[in-house]
Amino acid sequence: MFENVSREDIIRYADEYLITSMVEGLEPVVVAEARGAKIIDVNGRGYIDAFSGISVVNVGHTRPELVEAAFEQAKKFIHVASYVYYSPPTILLAKRLAEIAPGRRLKKTFFGNSGAEAVECALKLARKYTKRHEFIALMASFHGRTLGALSVTGQWARRRFDMGPYLPGVAFAPSPYCYRCPLRQKYPECSLACALMVEDVIKYSTSNNVAAFIAEPILGEGGIIVPPPEYFRVVKEILDKHGILFIADEVQTGFARTGKMFGIEHYGVEPDIVAMAKGIAGGFPISACTTTPEIGDSFEPGDHLSTFGGNPVSAAAALVNIEIILKERLDEQARDKGEYLMKRLDELRGRHRLIGDIRGKGLMVGVELVRDEKKTPAIEEAKAVRRILRELGILVGRGGVTGSVIRIQPPLIISKEDLDRVVDALDEALRRVERGSS
Ligand SMILES: Cc1ncc(COP(=O)(O)O)c(C=O)c1O
Repeated sequence: MFENVSREDIIRYADEYLITSMVEGLEPVVVAEARGAKIIDVNGRGYIDAFSGISVVNVGHTRPELVEAAFEQAKKFIHVASYVYYSPPTILLAKRLAEIAPGRRLKKTFFGNSGAEAVECALKLARKYTKRHEFIALMASFHGRTLGALSVTGQWARRRFDMGPYLPGVAFAPSPYCYRCPLRQKYPECSLACALMVEDVIKYSTSNNVAAFIAEPILGEGGIIVPPPEYFRVVKEILDKHGILFIADEVQTGFARTGKMFGIEHYGVEPDIVAMAKGIAGGFPISACTTTPEIGDSFEPGDHLSTFGGNPVSAAAALVNIEIILKERLDEQARDKGEYLMKRLDELRGRHRLIGDIRGKGLMVGVELVRDEKKTPAIEEAKAVRRILRELGILVGRGGVTGSVIRIQPPLIISKEDLDRVVDALDEALRRVERGSS
């Protein structure tokens, strides 16, 4: 269908007709096909994909089982409005999510189409159930680009230009970002000061009308920030004391990405509401907001709806996607390969002055680049490293509150040989940038 349009035309048309606001524009990779952990461009050049379409295709690109499930469903019906008629794949997916959701209390799901929509639903449910209206979020958080989700997103300088006013009643707590502790402390001597600060935020920055605390178990866009092991337990105790709900935004950490089915399972606490998207259906668009029956049933007729929400084709793919994750033990694979990747990355540490920190869980890994001992963010260098990696045939992400973190989040089925190639190319890219010959 697209065969007689040239690569150059596609790039020109994108410029002319697409609204894109990616920081540096689109990566100049015109995709012909994507399979497993590879993306192939229209010139036949192959890339190792170490970013998974922003951490989505955990089971690998274009899984035949998902294609088959979606095709079979599409032949029966593509859309009927899953909130008007009973759509079996949608309802079966809700049942399956109840079986795998973190903790034992989460049972009911509202389906949307994107991560931001799942977050919107979570915020509305929390307000409706608690009859309170304020929220607490983290300073380096990211929860999506709709106005509600942006309102609980931190990183103001990077994400929230000129688009306010945002929701009132949102207070921000310091992020558990040990490499750049906002409280200028050191773990573990800090005694989890950032977690304890949530109590102060409630006391001094809210009118004690807080519906929910929302957080990512590992902060993705903020730069793959891994909270200390006790962080969420300490926060949850404070929340329970004040009757505040805990919304876990698992949009990026869910579906085995971090080595467990959900990121919060590393922390031994149960959320009240979970937002899911990205890895839920291997690339088909669908999102879920899953909660307890009591909280879910607080919505009354007319309170919330989505025309495309719970699309049957995406739901059919999601059901198969979840079975693949369980059958192939992708959680274990992510753990095992993540440890391998961290070990290989650690070898680079001593060799490159630009490497400030390497952190992550499973196959959600970040390499933060800094210019000097004062940890000045190496933003231009991170851009150059990403570009050189692409030229070497490796696709990675770039993120972090200042944009100086290289994000390595490949499909969980990636081979260790391909991980070696990613690390070797990173070694080379850092060497070139450090030599100033980028
Ligand atoms: C933690 C988190 N929440 C929400 C979102 C928003 O998801 P979407 O882009 O599908 O709206 C993202 C996207 O990166 C995310 O990482």
